Amino acid sequence: MKATTPPKTYRVKSFGCQMNVYDGERMAEMLGARGIVPAPEGEDADLVVLNTCHIREKAAEKVYSDIGRISKAGAAAGKQPLIAVAGCVAQAESEEIMARAPAVSMVVGPQAYHRLPDMLDRAVLGERATDTDMPAIAKFAALPPRRRTAPASFLTVQEGCDKFCTYCVVPYTRGAEISRPYSDLVTEARKLVEAGAKEITLLGQNVSAWSGENEHGHTVGLAGLIRDLAKVDGLARIRYTTSHPADMDDALIAAHGEIDALMPFLHLPVQAGSDRVLKAMNRSHTADSYLRLLERFRAARPDLALSGDFIVGFPGETEAEFEETLALVDAVGYAQAFSFKYSPRPGTPAAAMDGQVPKEVMDDRLQRLQAALNRDQLAFNQRSVGRRCEVLVERKGKHPGQWLGKTPWLQSAWFEGAAAIGDLVQVDLVEAGPNSLSARLREPVTA
Ligand code: SAH
Ligand code: SF4
Ligand code: F3S
Repeated sequence: MKATTPPKTYRVKSFGCQMNVYDGERMAEMLGARGIVPAPEGEDADLVVLNTCHIREKAAEKVYSDIGRISKAGAAAGKQPLIAVAGCVAQAESEEIMARAPAVSMVVGPQAYHRLPDMLDRAVLGERATDTDMPAIAKFAALPPRRRTAPASFLTVQEGCDKFCTYCVVPYTRGAEISRPYSDLVTEARKLVEAGAKEITLLGQNVSAWSGENEHGHTVGLAGLIRDLAKVDGLARIRYTTSHPADMDDALIAAHGEIDALMPFLHLPVQAGSDRVLKAMNRSHTADSYLRLLERFRAARPDLALSGDFIVGFPGETEAEFEETLALVDAVGYAQAFSFKYSPRPGTPAAAMDGQVPKEVMDDRLQRLQAALNRDQLAFNQRSVGRRCEVLVERKGKHPGQWLGKTPWLQSAWFEGAAAIGDLVQVDLVEAGPNSLSARLREPVTA
């Protein structure tokens, strides 16, 4: 590669899960600390970071088409941008990217991106570099302090996964489970709140497995961390995601009934309703143990909104087994959910299993599952009409004077009136749609 002038502007494009969004923000902060500024909307950047996801085939393929598009646009404009590929595709396919995409000068894995600035110095000199080391904890220690934030911010507390569900790449791309230290998290949460965050979502691929030592030297789990973060002045809302049914302990269930700041929402992926399929997936729960767990959460917090993830067409899944997934959906009544067609991932055990399900069958099952999930989501929103609740204002709506925010149950709600981004306002929910609710702003009550 040719040497080039140091970039003045950057763009970070994050795909995949919220942990990637968090990583993207931290990379942006590091570039900002170097005086590189975000490229203005609609303008080409001197440096593009593609922060990629490997979870499904489509997500991974996107990377190569994006690289092609960016370098073509660069050639047309007479100025090739520097391209860095970060995230889980970088981890899984670093050599392939370097071989297939000569326009890429940096490939950096999710646990190594604190080295991006050094790699950038080398890229400017015309060198190509790859770094896919995996000491996650070293990364957090090396990152500069938080610089920017939003009313609803993410905070990664745990990384990696030891569960090895047979379909999933995460244990390979993110490595083994590690918990970030308690004191670092309290410090980072305070920084986020000082910079304007009202809500923090604690993130981890398996967040309920977090544990650490508090300031008294006691080992605490996620519930203990949430309890202490709830005391941070100015932090009104706490959420966490994603949990695994195997790591939900009594303390966390109780926390939902006891801590006001912990929002009444739980994302707890189940994946399928058939015990045979769950076993083949190496999920450690059954449909029944999952339902009983949810009952305990609902007993602690009766207005809890539930969310989940589903995979249709796992190898060997029969029609009858798929119908067990539909039955589970009926039994739960999710407020929202994500559902996917099974995608064989290179190197995972399920990719080599017999009985791969034809695409048409998967399409049909996904459609039926999504129809059921959409029905339940609308029903949940309709049941919310008439509720009086707080909305955290996150952005402006489409029309002047319109604002968009989130209810405690993570529904999008919009309203008109005097407000500003970052406000927590009282509203009445007045009308439900499939994906959002309209709300009426209540006059502030004066004492
Ligand atoms: N750590 C979380 C999220 C993992 S990835 C958890 O365990 O729940 C998010 C979702 O992607 C998973 O819950 C699963 O539903 C889906 N997923 C993962 N691997 C997949 C694959 N190979 N094909 C289709 N969907 C997949
Ligand atoms: Fe993947 Fe399973 Fe770990 Fe979730 S728990 S990240 S689905 S291996
Ligand atoms: Fe995707 Fe990696 Fe997250 S594969 S879902 S970006 S952990």
